[in-house]
Amino acid sequence: MADCGIGTRSAVKAYIKAGRVTVNQSVAKSPEQKTDPDADEVCFDGRKLTHEEFQYYMLNKPQGVVSATEDQREKTVIDLITEEKRRDLFPVGRLDKDTEGLLLITNDGKLANALLAPGKHVDKCYYAELDREIPEDTAERFAEGVEIGDDTPTRPAELIMLPDGKSARLIITEGRYHQVKRMFEAVGCTVTYLKRLSMGTLSLDESLVPGAYRRLTEEELRELKENGK
Ligand code: URA
Repeated sequence: MADCGIGTRSAVKAYIKAGRVTVNQSVAKSPEQKTDPDADEVCFDGRKLTHEEFQYYMLNKPQGVVSATEDQREKTVIDLITEEKRRDLFPVGRLDKDTEGLLLITNDGKLANALLAPGKHVDKCYYAELDREIPEDTAERFAEGVEIGDDTPTRPAELIMLPDGKSARLIITEGRYHQVKRMFEAVGCTVTYLKRLSMGTLSLDESLVPGAYRRLTEEELRELKENGK
């Protein structure tokens, strides 16, 4: 039952003791009672449970929370998932504490590895605001790859300048530490606001305010799995 997303093992035990769980319409007798997921109908507060091995959430990460599962001092992105959730959820990749936007939260390690694998080059699109006008040759420089102080220059990236000249969309295919900020530093600009808009086929649902999340739709999940292949 804990794998159905209704709570931790100890919470589930308490629900069973409180008589809130039925197996084939009879109140469950004890946490040790065996059930067959294919044959038995298990209900919690009258709601039928379906076994769910993996959970997938799209979070609009707000500024001020860290992309980690646990932290001694800081609020984490997992703390924001407030519905009954599995304990093994983690964020797929990291956004800086002051970055907003799309973050996939799951317990599906295989999909996470596929999306993050360095050889996969999954596109990540960011919206960035800068402290000054972006130099005219920046799109060209990013398309060629820039030195950001690592062993190798960045892979070719696509810059789409926006009309005000001080903001842009940037599509990168790597996930180096502070990559977007360091790329703009390389052309003399400081990022003042950063938001991730998409990762592979998955685009941020703009109806999610910062801090809000929802489950992925079946179609989003199917497309994302194709992405990671
Ligand atoms: N690049 C950055 O500099 N920061 C992020 O959070 C993500 C990409």
